[in-house]
Amino acid sequence: MLWSSIATVAALTAIVNGQYESSPPYYPAPWMRGGNGWADAYEKAQAFVSKLTLLEKVNLTTGVGWEGGPCVGNTGTIPRLNFPGICLQDSPLGVRDTDFNSAFPAGVNVAATWSTRLFKSRGNAMGMEHRGKGIDVQLGPVAGPLGRAPEGGRNWEGFSPDPVLTGVAMAETIQGIQDAGVIACAKHYIMNEQEANRQSTDTVEFAYSANLDDKTLHELYMWPFADAVRAGAGAIMCSYNQINNSYGCQNSYTLNYLLKNELDFQGFVTSDWWAQHTGVASALAGLDMTMAGDQNLNSGDTFWGSNLTAAVLNGTIPQWRLDDMVVRIMSAYYKVGRDTASVPTNFNSWSLETNGYRFPEANESFQQINWHVNVQDDHAKLIREIGGASTVLLKNTKKTLPLSKPKSVAVIGYDAHDNPGGPNSCSDRGCDNGTLAMGWGSGTANFPYLIAPNTALKAQAAHDGSKYTNVSNNYDFAAVAKAVTGAEVAIVFANADSGEGFITVDGNEGDRKNLTLWGGGDALIAYVASIHPNVVVVLHTVGPVIVEAIKQHPNVTAILWAGLPGQETGNAITDVLYGNVNPQAKSVFTWGKTREDFGTDVTYEFPSDPPQLNFPEGVFIDYRHFDAAGIEPSYEFGFGLSYTTYSYSNLKITKQNPGPYEPTTGMTSAAPTFGTIDYNPAHAEFPPGFHAVPQYVYPYISGPVPTGLPQNWPAGSRDGSPQPKVPAGGSGGGNRQLWDVMYTVSATVTNTGSVKGTEIAQLYISLGGPTDPKIVLRGFDDLILSPGESGTFSYDITRRDISNWDTVSQNWVISNYPKKVYVGASSRNLPLSGVLA
Ligand SMILES: *[C@@H]1O[C@H](CO)[C@@H](O)[C@H](O)[C@H]1NC(C)=O
Ligand SMILES: *[C@@H]1O[C@H](CO)[C@@H](O)[C@H](O)[C@H]1NC(C)=O
Ligand SMILES: *[C@@H]1O[C@H](CO)[C@@H](O)[C@H](O)[C@H]1NC(C)=O
Ligand SMILES: *[C@@H]1O[C@H](CO)[C@@H](O)[C@H](O)[C@H]1NC(C)=O
Ligand SMILES: *[C@@H]1O[C@H](CO)[C@@H](O)[C@H](O)[C@H]1NC(C)=O
Ligand SMILES: *[C@@H]1O[C@H](CO)[C@@H](O)[C@H](O)[C@H]1NC(C)=O
Ligand SMILES: *[C@@H]1O[C@H](CO)[C@@H](O)[C@H](O)[C@H]1NC(C)=O
Ligand SMILES: *[C@@H]1O[C@H](CO)[C@@H](O)[C@H](O)[C@H]1NC(C)=O
Ligand SMILES: *[C@@H]1O[C@H](CO)[C@@H](O)[C@H](O)[C@H]1NC(C)=O
Repeated sequence: MLWSSIATVAALTAIVNGQYESSPPYYPAPWMRGGNGWADAYEKAQAFVSKLTLLEKVNLTTGVGWEGGPCVGNTGTIPRLNFPGICLQDSPLGVRDTDFNSAFPAGVNVAATWSTRLFKSRGNAMGMEHRGKGIDVQLGPVAGPLGRAPEGGRNWEGFSPDPVLTGVAMAETIQGIQDAGVIACAKHYIMNEQEANRQSTDTVEFAYSANLDDKTLHELYMWPFADAVRAGAGAIMCSYNQINNSYGCQNSYTLNYLLKNELDFQGFVTSDWWAQHTGVASALAGLDMTMAGDQNLNSGDTFWGSNLTAAVLNGTIPQWRLDDMVVRIMSAYYKVGRDTASVPTNFNSWSLETNGYRFPEANESFQQINWHVNVQDDHAKLIREIGGASTVLLKNTKKTLPLSKPKSVAVIGYDAHDNPGGPNSCSDRGCDNGTLAMGWGSGTANFPYLIAPNTALKAQAAHDGSKYTNVSNNYDFAAVAKAVTGAEVAIVFANADSGEGFITVDGNEGDRKNLTLWGGGDALIAYVASIHPNVVVVLHTVGPVIVEAIKQHPNVTAILWAGLPGQETGNAITDVLYGNVNPQAKSVFTWGKTREDFGTDVTYEFPSDPPQLNFPEGVFIDYRHFDAAGIEPSYEFGFGLSYTTYSYSNLKITKQNPGPYEPTTGMTSAAPTFGTIDYNPAHAEFPPGFHAVPQYVYPYISGPVPTGLPQNWPAGSRDGSPQPKVPAGGSGGGNRQLWDVMYTVSATVTNTGSVKGTEIAQLYISLGGPTDPKIVLRGFDDLILSPGESGTFSYDITRRDISNWDTVSQNWVISNYPKKVYVGASSRNLPLSGVLA
């Protein structure tokens, strides 16, 4: 890293001079109050924290450093109380870096099911696997990135660029994980929308600053985090990027004001790995835990640990702030029942060998490090179900699908095949070899096995007595011609991958560099379609790709988006292709005809340092943008076909009378403290004879505590006196009256075709103002209907659903513009509408 102090001074001067956006200071850091269903946990945590010494408290706030423990993140321990510390582990789609775990479908896939049951079941199954491995905190789910730009490398780890769909998926996933006795960690807070320059690089000293107005932040990016808080998330991870030129893990406005005050978040904030940049400042700005604990990867030094001990001893950090950090951490622990659900950690993130070093960086303590506990249970069934239920049928002409005992089948493309090196041969899935079933980076898990489409389809062919040919080389057109000639159907598989910025694959530094298919996929499809009249295209992509030519090609009779389905990918696609599963999925993003049509893109290179990443489009991302700009996409948000058909009728709107909205008023109590702190620095030194593991982070001080240094901490930052409550706050996710029901809407959905199916009915609202999107999604439900059967779709429209964020009153208001409600099958197929009078 190049740390140029000249750049620093220039940057700070620019911020002071108003050349760059700046984030308003907000202090003090709100202390936990035990509201929103946290009362019991808070009480237990208080009892526990009251027993702790200063050093023990600091131990729970600070990671022990990279590779210092079995998990990807480990806090210090409390040997005196037999407390093993907190173990934090990736990922949002399964337990990372271990064995005998499941590889679940990615977030973007489960979102495409639009099924709250599957959101929650997946969360619960993942939670059970984390629990079985002895993990306290699962690092997921993801609502940041939300998916501002389709090229964003980690979008697939989250759910959808729509904040309501993502918010519902966040809440259900969190409840599922936490019901299993594991703390969910919603991340990355906030506006972590691209990989390029999310951290400093060799040439740019600062991470990018995401600059966005207050209204868009509330109406778009913060919305799903509000749902996460309301669902009781125990932890939130602050992000690498800056927001208005203040780092995500020391931005007092996003942490203290928005998260802990307005959203009334009761859990703890942990940093992303090395996203902390200061000690005292981050503590006062609302950070509660630092990961991995060292200042930089294996640097051996820390912003907290002994530095936090010293800052408390010399009076810079008040006891209440340290106590609040620890009581938040322990409240999350008790809230999900870790005190009864916990088993000892039985794996090691740094090696799959049975025996190895407990401290690999120091080559210390050779011992058993893996117990190879099988936590998979019967989750393969759920994975296969989600795989099928998340496959979007985009095109189906000439009744091509479902297949029924075809005489012959040709399966083409490397994306149908096993990775020649095995499914886990590339570290953190950092390559695009073989079929794509998850993206790359820390948001991954090892596959226990991977059923490639070729394997499952060949078995189906054997079962049906179909002739089966296949080609894995995308460039061997001679072999392709031979394989498809005479075949009743040619199924071509292709993919597009992306991932986290620490790995580059084929020139893609996390973010995608284009929106086309990888490995010659487009040319392969074009070639097969030029010689064969019945081509089915299956796309394993992390997000939208440009499909207009494929869509328009008469010989391409069917297109399916199968996303990133996890370990059962082959079985799941076979279920759909052969009609054992009737597609229900709807696209969770828009498929633009060109890259430019999206209106937003990743910024790959920045002219300034700190890099300024402005969000001038405001709330107009994905379908909001296409609608506002009048651009027709290839396939719209919410679109998906079925093997049956549905009709919509009988819209009913019932007005409810919840009474007026009352802003939250009054004062908080004063900041509490738990136990007494021994301020004698001699008692905070390393105990005599203590063996310190090299590069390990400890809470002990050595030598005198710094005193008398210049103090310029922000005004009010150490004030523990009662504070005014904010009008939009007062309960988890915001003012509780935001969830008052204003209207109940219902509609009849009828299966008008000949097979049973699940229809995803969608409800959109027009807020009516000149700066509002044409429509915004607010509700959805999955209705299982037999042929001829009708069901009722019903949704309660809340106050929040019809409000806008008012920057002046800092509250939600219902504008006077006339509002309309729409119900139908996609964002552009809304046969029912009515006025919200
Ligand atoms: C960022 O700056 C904009 C413009 O001044 C302001 O509307 C917004 O509230 C700020 N957001 C944060 C998180 O500082
Ligand atoms: C802090 O945690 C470390 C392990 O990370 C442990 O060795 C040490 O004893 C703990 N200190 C106290 C005071 O509990
Ligand atoms: C405390 O922080 C300072 C400033 O970042 C750093 O130089 C020092 O190494 C830290 N102390 C420890 C024990 O990590
Ligand atoms: C640990 O062992 C490895 C391999 O034997 C060696 O390369 C490395 O330098 C050792 N590290 C330390 C800190 O001794
Ligand atoms: C695997 O992927 C890497 C990088 O994406 C590529 O260089 C390599 O050739 C691939 N190996 C095989 C066997 O396909
Ligand atoms: C057919 O699939 C098998 C299994 O993946 C593979 O070994 C074989 O090379 C493929 N055939 C061709 C012609 O690519
Ligand atoms: C887009 O990127 C992929 C992956 O790097 C590459 O295979 C493909 O050729 C690129 N497309 C174009 C049109 O350059
Ligand atoms: C469709 O496939 C047939 C071969 O069956 C071929 O003759 C025709 O040119 C193809 N159509 C297009 C538009 O490529
Ligand atoms: C107290 O110690 C902390 C950590 O070393 C330091 O940042 C701070 O400036 C010190 N306060 C005083 C008054 O010296």
